[in-house]
Amino acid sequence: MKISVLGLGYVGLPLACAIAKNTNYNAVGYDLSLDKVNKIKNRISPIDDEQCAEDLKTTNLEVSNESAILSGSDVYIVCVPTPVLDDYTPDLTPVKSACEIIAKYLVKGQSVIIESTINPGVCDEIVIPILEELTNLKAGLDFDVAHCPERINPGDAKWNVYNIPRNIGSTSLETTKKLADFYRSVIIGQVNEMPDLKTAEATKIIENTFRDINIAFVNELAKSFDVLGIDLKKVIEGASNKPFAFMPHFPSCGVGGHCIPVDPYYLIERAKQSGFDHKFLKLAREINNSMPAYTIDLLADGLNIYKRTINGTKIGLLGMSYKANVGDIRESPSIELKEILIQKGAALEIYDPYFPEMSTCSSIDELLDKSYAIVLATDHKEFKIITGKQLLDHNVQVVIDGKNCLDRESIKSENVYYKGIGIK
Ligand SMILES: NC(=O)c1ccc[n+]([C@@H]2O[C@H](COP(=O)([O-])OP(=O)(O)OC[C@H]3O[C@@H](n4cnc5c(N)ncnc54)[C@H](O)[C@@H]3O)[C@@H](O)[C@H]2O)c1
Repeated sequence: MKISVLGLGYVGLPLACAIAKNTNYNAVGYDLSLDKVNKIKNRISPIDDEQCAEDLKTTNLEVSNESAILSGSDVYIVCVPTPVLDDYTPDLTPVKSACEIIAKYLVKGQSVIIESTINPGVCDEIVIPILEELTNLKAGLDFDVAHCPERINPGDAKWNVYNIPRNIGSTSLETTKKLADFYRSVIIGQVNEMPDLKTAEATKIIENTFRDINIAFVNELAKSFDVLGIDLKKVIEGASNKPFAFMPHFPSCGVGGHCIPVDPYYLIERAKQSGFDHKFLKLAREINNSMPAYTIDLLADGLNIYKRTINGTKIGLLGMSYKANVGDIRESPSIELKEILIQKGAALEIYDPYFPEMSTCSSIDELLDKSYAIVLATDHKEFKIITGKQLLDHNVQVVIDGKNCLDRESIKSENVYYKGIGIK
């Protein structure tokens, strides 16, 4: 069987490599980005994923930025981005364009699987109509459409494309079984057959919305407990003692990445079109979106103690990535932190060892040397080991720990001002 993957990013490339490792399949990849395609051809992984980088070296995955490579595929798997526009409404342009490209090659008996995160209804209302209109074929009769949402967590040493369980739904139970068996031949994680497309689509959206809501809850608690003088870190530790029905989530300077701050908007918007107002989800988004500004307020409070303002003060921003130990800045709160600091007139320095493109310094020490105050925005392993002594040696006076990951006792013991999110 020939299997093609459209979109060779954090989701598509590990999957394409995993399929290529099974010698029963002829796996090919297609991506619009020539730069990415060239890297992959040279067996250099364009994404931060160790497993994928290894797999790439040992597979004969063929890739191209020309769609002709898709011709004759038995299965087309769509892994293109699903971002939001500036007004937070879903941007399904990449999914639509991927379907238009597939339609050029789709013939009877072939299958299309969408792995991109989409709201309930996208397969029935957008994917199938595009494919049917452009091919004159009928979904469920002439070709199959399935949704198998990806759950990959880039940088996770334990969970990867092979062992994460999957859900799949399609136009019929028979097709679902057939395509679930295909996944079972590639991954070892459990493959769960869902009753239909909409149910499969909804699973992924609620997984990420669940995260967003719970993070919003602790972010709101952080603000409340700052007023009440309660240490949220200790409270979460205590509550986590409960052996059932409590799952710890942690406050921070904001929620980033291509999934959690984006996916809830897909559900909010689609429900709105059908007349339902997702008040709770909108509020969660609002709270999480407010965290970068809140973090800068904490910085202003800290500087105020030393009779300083952000305007004119040397501020060091540690971390541009949205998560630890990877160089991925998509929807990163650091972008907003940076913008607010510039807008408020800070003399800003930036360091992120995983994202040198946006760094103005080339080491932690250089950044500390140039900073009166620092805002830690990413819990990279290199940052977590910064000590109070190190800060004092560089004359850093104020520390805002946007990830609550620094050794606060060590910092406070050197009389450096420390404030975390919901902790003192
Ligand atoms: N990154 C994650 O952790 C993660 C996890 C689970 C699910 N998802 C979902 O998977 C999807 C893909 O995310 P990603 O992180 O891999 O994105 P990505 O930006 O890393 O990769 C997407 C790739 O698709 C390519 N592309 C865009 N339009 C295309 C088209 N029409 N045809 C071919 N290629 C095209 C881009 O050039 C890019 O290389 C999204 O819907 C996302 O929400 C992402």
